[in-house]
Amino acid sequence: MIVRKPPLGWNSWNTFGRNIDEKLIMETADAMVENGLLDAGYEYLVIDDCWAEMKRDENNRLVPDKNKFPNGMKHVADYVHSKGLKFGMYSCAGNLTCAGYPSSFEYEFIDAETFASWGVDYLKYDYCFKPMYQQGHLLYKRMGLALANCGRDICFSACSWGVDQTNEWIKQTGAHLWRSTGDINDSWQSVKELLMKQDEYLTTNGQGCFNDMDMLIVGMRGKGNVAVAGCTDEEYLTHFAAWAFLGSPLMIGCDIRNMDEATKKILLNKEILAINQDEAYRQPFNCGNHWWATDVKVWARFLEGGDIAIGIFNLSDNGADPFFSFDTLGINRSSGKALEIRDIIEHKTLGVYKDVFRTEYIQPHTCKMYRCKVVDAE
Ligand code: GLA
Repeated sequence: MIVRKPPLGWNSWNTFGRNIDEKLIMETADAMVENGLLDAGYEYLVIDDCWAEMKRDENNRLVPDKNKFPNGMKHVADYVHSKGLKFGMYSCAGNLTCAGYPSSFEYEFIDAETFASWGVDYLKYDYCFKPMYQQGHLLYKRMGLALANCGRDICFSACSWGVDQTNEWIKQTGAHLWRSTGDINDSWQSVKELLMKQDEYLTTNGQGCFNDMDMLIVGMRGKGNVAVAGCTDEEYLTHFAAWAFLGSPLMIGCDIRNMDEATKKILLNKEILAINQDEAYRQPFNCGNHWWATDVKVWARFLEGGDIAIGIFNLSDNGADPFFSFDTLGINRSSGKALEIRDIIEHKTLGVYKDVFRTEYIQPHTCKMYRCKVVDAE
């Protein structure tokens, strides 16, 4: 299986943690369709940790919790599929899952077959309780190979948080996405911390094995399993736009059965999603800065067809008016070329610019995102 674009979907962990059951999953499937999320590309519905009985059955197979999933997982998967969605589940490379449930260590091939028999399309694979003398790369290779041979296409989502130099070996394992950093929580501080670590991963990200910056907190508003203070609408937008720009998988983490309009508007910004889902998926790069401030990020990405995306993220607590010079994008003065710049958050074209573009004053914790077309200079 080859995964050419960052997967988009929903995951139960951020809001629901242990409080998951068949009813929640089915209602969420309905909401993904009714709210237009599926149409916008969010196709995976993923059940995270805490879905299993504490003991395997007599054939060493994992068993869904009988109270939470009384009709078994195939029943849930069939419902999810009937809505046109894909179905994801969770296990772990160690002796227990992170929340202490049975895990796949030494049962990799059996579990891959079980997931396939239930109709699973996506497996998130965590890293808790790894036996100390086992090598992480080998454990992910085991599951990667088990999935590749289970008779069903299953997207393999590795979740070893970037530890043990994951970036050096993860592409050997068959993983289609890999968590490069630790867990997110519903606060601006967490968003900023994760973003400040991304510069070192810009070159390890790429098509076929995407750098997963963790599930989204957009719309959580301080409620749920990883809730802390919550964020403002502007901060949620900055978080979403940055994740999208850097090519992270986008897994919604809020309760989409009860989304407000501001949350929907952020998650359904089609021009931002188009950057995330660009056909070529070229690596982002730094193309500017703001004087001494290391927490004002100016990133660029070449898009398929010749356009250039620019993402400017003011993670600092001060206002900023950063710039980028076209020379850093490959457009030198003698080229005779200019850029037509479109603001894809406000959905308006700003005009044609030559040589340098300086933004207007950008408020703390907010962002700008542009799609630029190369045109002839006047
Ligand atoms: C780890 C992962 C989280 C979540 C929990 C579940 O912390 O990084 O994304 O899956 O485990 O227990």
